[in-house]
Amino acid sequence: MCGIVAYIGKKEAFPIVLKGLKRLEYRGYDSAGVALLSAGELSVYKRAGKVSNLEDFATQHNISGHAGIGHTRWATHGLPNDTNAHPHVSMDGSIALIHNGIIENYDSLRKELISEGYVFKSETDTEVLVHLVDNISKKENVWFGEALRIALHHVVGAYAIVAISKNYPNRLVAARKSSPLVLGIGTDGDFYLASDATPIVEYTKQVVYMEDEEIAVIDLEEGLKLYNIGDQQKTPYIQQLELELEALEKGGYEHFMLKEIYEQPRSILDCFRGRLNTDEGWVSLRGIREYEDKMIQANRLIIVACGTSWHAGLVGEYLIEDLARINVEVEYASEFRYRNPIIHENDVVIAISQSGETADTLAALELAKSKGATILGICNVVGSSISRITDAGSYTHAGPEIGVASTKAFTGQVTILTLLALTLAHKKGTITTSVLHTMLAELEAIPNKVKRVLETNAHIEKIANTYKDATNALYLGRGSSFPVALEGALKLKEISYIHAEGYPAAEMKHGPIALIDENMPIFVIATQGNSYEKVVSNIQEVKARKGKIIAIVTEGDVHVRELADEVIEIPETNEYLVPLLATVPFQLLSYHIAVMRGCNVDQPRNLAKSVTVE
Ligand code: AGP
Repeated sequence: MCGIVAYIGKKEAFPIVLKGLKRLEYRGYDSAGVALLSAGELSVYKRAGKVSNLEDFATQHNISGHAGIGHTRWATHGLPNDTNAHPHVSMDGSIALIHNGIIENYDSLRKELISEGYVFKSETDTEVLVHLVDNISKKENVWFGEALRIALHHVVGAYAIVAISKNYPNRLVAARKSSPLVLGIGTDGDFYLASDATPIVEYTKQVVYMEDEEIAVIDLEEGLKLYNIGDQQKTPYIQQLELELEALEKGGYEHFMLKEIYEQPRSILDCFRGRLNTDEGWVSLRGIREYEDKMIQANRLIIVACGTSWHAGLVGEYLIEDLARINVEVEYASEFRYRNPIIHENDVVIAISQSGETADTLAALELAKSKGATILGICNVVGSSISRITDAGSYTHAGPEIGVASTKAFTGQVTILTLLALTLAHKKGTITTSVLHTMLAELEAIPNKVKRVLETNAHIEKIANTYKDATNALYLGRGSSFPVALEGALKLKEISYIHAEGYPAAEMKHGPIALIDENMPIFVIATQGNSYEKVVSNIQEVKARKGKIIAIVTEGDVHVRELADEVIEIPETNEYLVPLLATVPFQLLSYHIAVMRGCNVDQPRNLAKSVTVE
């Protein structure tokens, strides 16, 4: 949930670290700080609030240094204030350390260190680490990097750590377990470290994705050395970054979220490109092809995910069960990992995660793996932890999703799940080649149909203006549009802070209908399909209670238009593909309402893009 950036080399460190923190601010923005090494002196600047606060504060001082570590925080222990901001410093001021993750046994370690005379300034678990390193370094008479390695044997929890010391001005040490850390190898002998590749890509494309319980020692004279926590040296596996720099800019849009909503025609196309051929009538997710039989013969497919990714999983359940007749269960990863679930060896567990770093999803996979299940992944970030622990997987290829509210990743996930459902159904013979052909042709038409939905943006903005002051909202859908209702409600909640709930349309009568009055907007997906007439009945039930109906309808619909207060038309498409189109108006609606309410659309309060802690 925090962002880490570090640099050591010939250039000035501060500008590189600061720019990197701005690129990572979507991971957490409660406070930010930097420590710089210059001429054997260690300077630390840290401030509550956004990275811009740190920049304003630090640039009032004479900033210099060839090595620097920076951190933007999402608070787990201790209030977001200057004192709790990272970096944390040893009592003698010689070592500075930053950390993303949670030290679960920090309380016992803290008590031990206090009994040895250490004085704590902050409420954080991270400060325990820097004092523990200092304590071991002095007791064992070892340098701070070796002390860190030893210290990690005493630590329980998740960490991505970078530390520097004024006694070793040419060294930087890093370690990771469960929290991501990417190492960039500069062309000019410089080195970069960050929580993901976005702060690194403009300097180098040569990266090492650090593995769990790995320690990196970077020395400007000796270069990079990689060790495991047992002190065995390892050969770094250097990879070429696929990321492009311009993907990290706003491209003229006011917010990353709006840019990413508008990228969906391309991102959906990129997602299925090379994975289907309508003329030849084939579809194939090459990354998991060897597991197709396992999935067909599986006792069940268990999808584990969180948030928006969980909603995508629900869409997948409807498609895979209906088309391929394979039992699918969709689980909140955070519940699955702790409820002692029954997992059979012939189960296939599929994790869906944009970041590929969500702690609960990762833990759910590790549990499934420990029970002998096959584990697969659907991720958006290449080289992410989930993509690296799974037996196989498929990338959504949506490009970096910077906005905290997930949009193009969701439609990418749904696209992958649609391809998977078609692959399994055709291989199993539960759909004919003719049906497959029809579905593939319709899927290929989706990017242009999303473009047509985006053309209704001005109309959606007007509707947003009508309902921007609502205090509650209800989203209704049936079938595979029910998860879209859940997703629409989540979008509104997380960026405009209006309470909203998604419900199966028929379920409204079992309680939520009591909420309906003339002030409550009800957003309903009422597109042509099997349940159309039933949804119309639900709309009439709402109208009878004076609720305001905003309906997403199939282009040309006249019936619902007579009942609803507002309609948003989407192009006609196969019922299985409606989620890919119906989601877009809800994304735009939430975006405009949030902007009109003056909310921080790309970095909503209390949220972070990647939830790498429990
Ligand atoms: C989506 O808008 C949210 N920001 C959040 O629910 C997100 O989907 C969830 O945290 C899961 O993240 P992941 O896909 O990276 O695992």
